[in-house]
Amino acid sequence: MEAILLVGGRGTRLRPLTISTPKPLLPTAGVSFLSHQLARAHEAGVERIVFATSYRAEMFEAAFGTKAHGLELVYVSEDQPLGTGGAIRNAARALTCDPDDPVLILNGDILSGHDVRAQVALHEETSAAVTLHLTRVDDPSRFGCVPTDDSGRVTAFLEKTSHPVTDQINAGCYVFRRSTIDTIPEDEVVSVERETFPTLISSGARVMGHVESEYWLDVGTPEAFVRGSCDLVLGRLASPAMPGEPGERLVLPGAAVAPGAIVRGGTTVGRGATVEAGSTVVGSVLLDDAFVAEGATVRDSVLSRGARVGPGAVLDGVILGDGAVVGPGNELRGGLRIWPGIELPPTAVRFSTDA
Ligand code: GTP
Repeated sequence: MEAILLVGGRGTRLRPLTISTPKPLLPTAGVSFLSHQLARAHEAGVERIVFATSYRAEMFEAAFGTKAHGLELVYVSEDQPLGTGGAIRNAARALTCDPDDPVLILNGDILSGHDVRAQVALHEETSAAVTLHLTRVDDPSRFGCVPTDDSGRVTAFLEKTSHPVTDQINAGCYVFRRSTIDTIPEDEVVSVERETFPTLISSGARVMGHVESEYWLDVGTPEAFVRGSCDLVLGRLASPAMPGEPGERLVLPGAAVAPGAIVRGGTTVGRGATVEAGSTVVGSVLLDDAFVAEGATVRDSVLSRGARVGPGAVLDGVILGDGAVVGPGNELRGGLRIWPGIELPPTAVRFSTDA
């Protein structure tokens, strides 16, 4: 089976992490986020993937080349981002399959443990135009929702509302019949969510919903990105690309964790990173060459490459860009984002290791 992987978005909600690296290439549990997706796609029977790129397009081929995780990889770039639908249409130029064959479409920012083979089987059994993976969420009012009838056929594709009619939402993994992709207008900005799916449904095309609530996470926000990385390390989602056994922490080669430091909650410590004695790092992502000094506390946070946290500083739910420095004694909480290279001076209250 062939697949199209959508990886052209700018990932604005994940800035400053995505200033230098596109979201799908961010290190996640020790490897790039896409490695987990590619390995899982291969397990599900995919043999060839067309990357639909746009933002920082050249970085994808540099990262994966033409073969990785048992897959053949090809790259199709958009000069201007064409949106999710336009990107699928554009990338389809590189498909080799027949008009009736199924094509898997993957969003490049979804971690999912659902059964892709079962989704494809439903698509084939029902001769659908498109078959969507739908997942159930506790609070569907935060998403558009997708009701289905008793046979599993999608009846509507509804915008976000405070009174959703179902807890089923679009989980961002689709099976398209190859010929259905050709109905998307060429060289135009098109959204599958806002245009293609509602149009197909209203025109009477068979759109099916494969409802499955296995592990599912959209890593589009900083909180979700940190959670996804930690869930992989903890083994909440099995990934063939994980560089180690599941556990409380993943310490990559070349990292230094002092014996007196507490590192847990699915934390990754990147290559060349340092965690000094007396510090605590919980549920966080430390990229290569990050540094946590003695007595510091880091929780639910990301330290990008070369970022430094000074002695006694506290970070909770914080993103530090590349090379950012938090001086001794600072306390940062609640979604703060520090841009690359910014240095916060030490607080006036002097930190003492004797305290
Ligand atoms: P935000 O800017 O934070 O919303 O992130 P994003 O740009 O990644 O957008 P979104 O999360 O809605 O995108 C869902 C998936 O589609 C991601 O994997 C994106 O990389 C991809 N995507 C979004 N827009 C485009 C586009 O215009 N072209 C291509 N090729 N992919 C896109």
